[in-house]
Amino acid sequence: MRSSWIKASRLGSVLVFALALVFLAACAPGPQDILNPFSFAAAETANLFYLIFWIAVVIFILVEGLLVYFVLRYQRRAQDERPEQYHGNTRLEVTWTIIPALILVVVFAITARTMGTVGPTNPPAEGMPVRVVGNQWWWEIQYPDAKVVTASELHMPTGQVMNVTLNSNNVIHSFWVPAIMGKTDTMPGHENKTWLLSDMIGAYDGQCAEFCGAQHANMLFRVIVESPADFQAWLTAQQAPPVEPAPGSPEARGKAIFLDPAKKCVGCHTINGTTALGVTGPNLTHFASRSCFAGCMYENTHANLVRWLQDTQALKPGNLMRNYGPLTPDDITALTAYLESLR
Ligand code: CUA
Repeated sequence: MRSSWIKASRLGSVLVFALALVFLAACAPGPQDILNPFSFAAAETANLFYLIFWIAVVIFILVEGLLVYFVLRYQRRAQDERPEQYHGNTRLEVTWTIIPALILVVVFAITARTMGTVGPTNPPAEGMPVRVVGNQWWWEIQYPDAKVVTASELHMPTGQVMNVTLNSNNVIHSFWVPAIMGKTDTMPGHENKTWLLSDMIGAYDGQCAEFCGAQHANMLFRVIVESPADFQAWLTAQQAPPVEPAPGSPEARGKAIFLDPAKKCVGCHTINGTTALGVTGPNLTHFASRSCFAGCMYENTHANLVRWLQDTQALKPGNLMRNYGPLTPDDITALTAYLESLR
């Protein structure tokens, strides 16, 4: 009897430890924490999680509690003891089939209700169209009405539904902003829809959530929620042509290198108003206005940009930007000056 109580108390401490892990995990919200919502849709999703979680906790405690109780209460106490034998109990079996079935019907109903309210195909209102294209391994963001093409950062105003059309240039990716909206796959040759709506100004991390190759984990983006005035100012700045470098400046030399077909930049990148019209890589027209680059793997700092131009394959192995050129240190100084002028 005594040893079984020791076993039971050990089991108890394992359970307490497991529950403590769950709560500790919930106490420290990370940047991609679905339980730390910054939108109605994310809050509804988190609430659904908590509801089902607590239903499961009650069932777990009930079932495991009964199990432990029966193990202790009806264990064999003597070598020659044989437990009482039972062969079926129809009433009990019907009961423990119907009750779980009813619980699953309830879970299905509340899940269907949440999907109806905040599912990707059910935007609360018609909103501003934005197209998102998955690439290996970065995100292109297009504002078709404003004719703006950018990358890595999706800007949106507070209180405005963004109707997102998703597409892919290559393999299947998944568009996910945990703090704002659930996942929706982006497929080659097929358009998926989702929407974004948040009233909370801030920058929220997004992540590709479908394995898509070597740099899947580094296929990141940011959703920047800003006031309608700030958003409009950003959009207007993005529509403007890039500033023309002064003749003879390092920026002008950088522009000449960028547009030199031998350096291959123009084969993949577009800069509006120039002869750079490539579409394989990100549009760089307002590169310096972005906070990050290379699928948001790197903060957009001078040091990172220099390292990137020196050896992109070392910084993000397998990405489509080969170490073309070659670029001399002088080339890189001029190119960074030019790219950093593209505000
Ligand atoms: Cu794109 Cu994973």
